[in-house]
Amino acid sequence: MDFRSVSARDTVWGQMDAFTVGFLICLKQLSCGLVCVCPIFSKGRRLNARLKTDIVYPKKVKSEQEKELKESDQSEQERGELQNKLEKLQEEMDRRKAQFKSVWRNAPLYADWRKEEFEAVNLTLDATSAHPALRLSEKGRQVAWQEKPQDLPSSTQRFESLPCVLGQLNITSGRCYWEVEVGDTSSWDLGICRDNIIRKGRVTVSPQNGFWAIRLYEGEYWALTSPETLLTLRKKPLSVGIFLDYEAGDLSFYNMKDGSHIFTFPQNTFHGVLRPLFRLWSSDSGPLTVVKVEEN
Ligand SMILES: *[C@@H]1O[C@H](CO)[C@@H](O)[C@H](O)[C@H]1NC(C)=O
Ligand SMILES: *[C@@H]1O[C@H](CO)[C@@H](O)[C@H](O)[C@H]1NC(C)=O
Repeated sequence: MDFRSVSARDTVWGQMDAFTVGFLICLKQLSCGLVCVCPIFSKGRRLNARLKTDIVYPKKVKSEQEKELKESDQSEQERGELQNKLEKLQEEMDRRKAQFKSVWRNAPLYADWRKEEFEAVNLTLDATSAHPALRLSEKGRQVAWQEKPQDLPSSTQRFESLPCVLGQLNITSGRCYWEVEVGDTSSWDLGICRDNIIRKGRVTVSPQNGFWAIRLYEGEYWALTSPETLLTLRKKPLSVGIFLDYEAGDLSFYNMKDGSHIFTFPQNTFHGVLRPLFRLWSSDSGPLTVVKVEEN
């Protein structure tokens, strides 16, 4: 356990949280028509109601406000005021982003900003590793259970006990991430494993055995630490981002729809080749799909 990094992380969390709370309070005050030190906009009440159930972070507030600005049929003066406030908000966002950039390693918030520090890998799945009960489709980007296991030749590469498949990628250094569409799929494991893990016999998915993963099983989310850690998530993630920083020994998971942090493994020292790991639990699990990286 690295206490230094944990306490730094807590501190930053504390700061970021205070910001979020600040934004919420501002919205509330605006909605009551009170003066606020960081004014956001004059239609606070309506936006506040809309945002109440959502995570509030500046990007979202900004896009809402831009929309308000467009729809607004107010006088030029009011438009000017809104524009002014929008600019202030942009400044605030830039400031917060700069702050994040200086401490991103220890700030688990905001997957969107974290992405800029990592290389997006255009991942496909490795058919030679796929358990015979799994079927690949969508040009090797989707894995699902198939009714009748295929009669495949045994190979050293193939999983024969755990219904797993690996990503077509050997990771030995650097920072990278990939995104997996999990949708309504009811049971899965996602993460990384060492290339030399046991693919034949029974094995527990745990860091001791060379696996670092999170799991959805029977409606509960787990980090497969040893012992396992039950995760309480505010929202069911429909898309999961897996961020690996090899040298820093950091593996983090994010909800890619709202950018929220899911879990970070305690700091590791990685050795050798790591591979992306995907596991389905049963025939009614549903599919997992790796998100394609778009060309710019
Ligand atoms: C990963 O390494 C293995 C063994 O060294 C090699 O056969 C394979 O082609 C590599 N895969 C990729 C995607 O580089
Ligand atoms: C990723 O791969 C797909 C094909 O599988 C391709 O269409 C797409 O352009 C690739 N993206 C990048 C950034 O190369």
